[in-house]
Amino acid sequence: MIFITGDTHGNLDYKKLNVDNFPIQKKLTKRDYVIVVGDMGVIWDDNDEILMEYYNSKKFTTLFIDGNHENFDKLNNYKIEKWNGGNVHKISDSIIHLMRGQIFEIEGLKFFTFGGANSIDKKYRKEGISWWPEELPNEEEYLSAYKNLEKCDYKVDIVLTHSAPYSMLYKINSRIKGNRLNKELDNIEKKLDYKYWFLGHYHLDMNLSDKIIILYNDIIKVDNQLKIERY
Ligand SMILES: [Fe+2]
Repeated sequence: MIFITGDTHGNLDYKKLNVDNFPIQKKLTKRDYVIVVGDMGVIWDDNDEILMEYYNSKKFTTLFIDGNHENFDKLNNYKIEKWNGGNVHKISDSIIHLMRGQIFEIEGLKFFTFGGANSIDKKYRKEGISWWPEELPNEEEYLSAYKNLEKCDYKVDIVLTHSAPYSMLYKINSRIKGNRLNKELDNIEKKLDYKYWFLGHYHLDMNLSDKIIILYNDIIKVDNQLKIERY
């Protein structure tokens, strides 16, 4: 089984995955996946062990794309490995970072992943301590996204991003200006054949369209027929 949820923010919002809020986990195994669509913050500071133990001790495997609030120095120190068709950082056997611009086959479904976002609060943050310029994709990551999308003829089942496509921003908040990442996602959205697009970042549970869904506290189950159900 595959479940998808929004930002867990290190030790701030992980409790949405506690057993009382997400009881079906009792029936899951390490071959079931919970995917966090960015700002997982599991690798952050000297207290990482506590949070890693929380996720390692879960019956399921946790996958995540990166958001903007991640410690990219630490994250990028992990070796790049191949997993289910795409590049990952294995934080542990139970915690796997799905890198940007990759295609993964998970439980018979094809996923396109593209993390990253702009921090609107960066002036209150300190570079290398609580903010990293790598929060936004680099040229190589955009190129690998387009190359990998070409390889699968621009057809996937599910898209996972942290940011929203540019043309959807007005539905979230008319004051959001948008950046290159939002524009590239818009470009991808227009070309791509996909069934659902899940994103985080905006700390809302909101459907931007029939197919594009912002997640925060909601946990969505996706079955292998691409039926979705809210938990
Ligand atoms: Fe966030």
